Amino acid sequence: MEVVILPGSKQIGSLAADAIEELLRRKPDAVLGLATGSSPLPVYDELARRHEQDGLDLSRARGFALDEYVGLGPGHPQSYREVIRREFTDRVNIAPDHVHSPDGSAADIPAACQAYEDAIKAAGGVDLQLLGVGTDGHIGFNEPGSSLASRTRIKSLIEQTRRDNARFFGSIHDVPHHVITQGLATIMDARHVILIATGAQKAQAVRDFVEGPVAAICAASVLQMHPHATVMVDEAAASSLRLADYYRHTYDNKPPWQGL
Ligand code: F6R
Repeated sequence: MEVVILPGSKQIGSLAADAIEELLRRKPDAVLGLATGSSPLPVYDELARRHEQDGLDLSRARGFALDEYVGLGPGHPQSYREVIRREFTDRVNIAPDHVHSPDGSAADIPAACQAYEDAIKAAGGVDLQLLGVGTDGHIGFNEPGSSLASRTRIKSLIEQTRRDNARFFGSIHDVPHHVITQGLATIMDARHVILIATGAQKAQAVRDFVEGPVAAICAASVLQMHPHATVMVDEAAASSLRLADYYRHTYDNKPPWQGL
């Protein structure tokens, strides 16, 4: 796990966009794993800017959302399918039928989860997965206690997560209780994961998953076992890390050929 401490969201957006641009140059039909929430927004903004100003081409790229609320109904403005369309895919030239999300309106949820796993596999797996982290250490919506071997399935949100996400809905009462999320093993199958965390409210979760034990109580800690995980944090989110100076020193002195 590589920890990169940057001054703020702009620098994080730029560095993550560099990794995606480099991937697309190498593999134009790359499969991107797409997170929602606030954390990846600077990356989507930067990719949209590069598409518009520099001609960054995503016409052959494919995308899979990490998760989806259950029961919001197609077209609901807070469904993650809509959020990804609004914040990212409508702003670049990725083909709409190349972008997939779990079906939160399915009558048969377990079948929809299996179909999602099958679709990711059929696409050749995720090349680069963007992630945020919840204040309780979740990735995707794998809340504390999630099996480290889990695959796409239905989960119940913890009260804290519903409170955190109420800002998108106006009221906590409108935040669904259930979600479909890629499992921790599904996320671990991605070839490269980039987790973004910004702000002091993430400092404890960042310390727990980067420097604490690998344990289901902090789902993101499973990334300690990932062969290629990059954690991009701002100073506030890095403020509780014991080895912050070491991570800074390592990144500042990294051989250029290593890349991200
Ligand atoms: C979103 C997702 C969640 C968020 C996490 C952090 O698709 O899977 O794990 O990444 O809740 O949310 P923000 O970025 O809004 O703080």
